[in-house]
Amino acid sequence: MATTQPIVPHHVAIVMDGNGRWATKRFLPRVAGHKQGVDSLSRCVQACIDRGIAVLTVFAFSSENWNRPSEEVSGLMELLALSLSREVPSLKANGVRLHFVGDRQRLSEKVQAGLAQAELGTSANQRLVFNVCFNYGGRWDIAQAAQKLVDSGQAITEMSMDRAMALAHVPDPDLLIRTGGELRISNFLLWQAAYSELHFSDKLWPDFDAAALDEAIAVFRSRERRFGKTSAQLNSQGNTQQEADAQNMKAA
Ligand code: IPE
Ligand code: IPE
Ligand code: MG
Repeated sequence: MATTQPIVPHHVAIVMDGNGRWATKRFLPRVAGHKQGVDSLSRCVQACIDRGIAVLTVFAFSSENWNRPSEEVSGLMELLALSLSREVPSLKANGVRLHFVGDRQRLSEKVQAGLAQAELGTSANQRLVFNVCFNYGGRWDIAQAAQKLVDSGQAITEMSMDRAMALAHVPDPDLLIRTGGELRISNFLLWQAAYSELHFSDKLWPDFDAAALDEAIAVFRSRERRFGKTSAQLNSQGNTQQEADAQNMKAA
């Protein structure tokens, strides 16, 4: 018998894939799909708040996405700048705490300042921690964490790495969703997804709605999270979700 999962996962991570195909199907430029993707993300943030999800982490632009045609890359950079001014006020009012996760050095100074301002302006919020991974790669994250430890003369252990990773401020994701039908991780949370439950949706990201999120949550709830143990062990110990969460939490 599966161990009962909590009503909602604490931390949901999403690879928001399928914007380009959404646009192409409608004979629109790919950037139009990315714009729809931002609207879908706003609705998703609200759906997470409504469901009491504590942490949402999304993959918005990967280290590898620089290899796309230059007009798409510049469209995505403009969309980031535009979304900062359009979306941040309502996120702020809704109790959302924003974190941008990734290598910022390649972004324009203006955008870097906008990211820092958005983070500072929402830093007192507590309803939802919202991590936006931009110019992020799982390999970049592991390498930067290891470099930090080397620079400060610390030993490399799982615990010290956990603390040096870009998502050290939140526990690992419980549920990792990828939309768009592809069955791969594409360099997303390589370290942190070690024990995440994976859910792949065929819906293109602009079409991913609250019902699709509920379906992913329902699938998550039906899973038995064993963390290396046997089913019998979990049942005999009356393993509660709090215990499972505790095992999955980063060491303090
Ligand atoms: C995901 O959608 C958004 C980014 C990678 C920026 P895609 O743009 O990859 O959409 P598809 O996969 O081409 O449909
Ligand atoms: C992953 O999607 C990156 C984001 C959603 C930001 P991609 O569309 O870039 O992934 P691949 O290239 O199909 O693996
Ligand atoms: Mg894609």
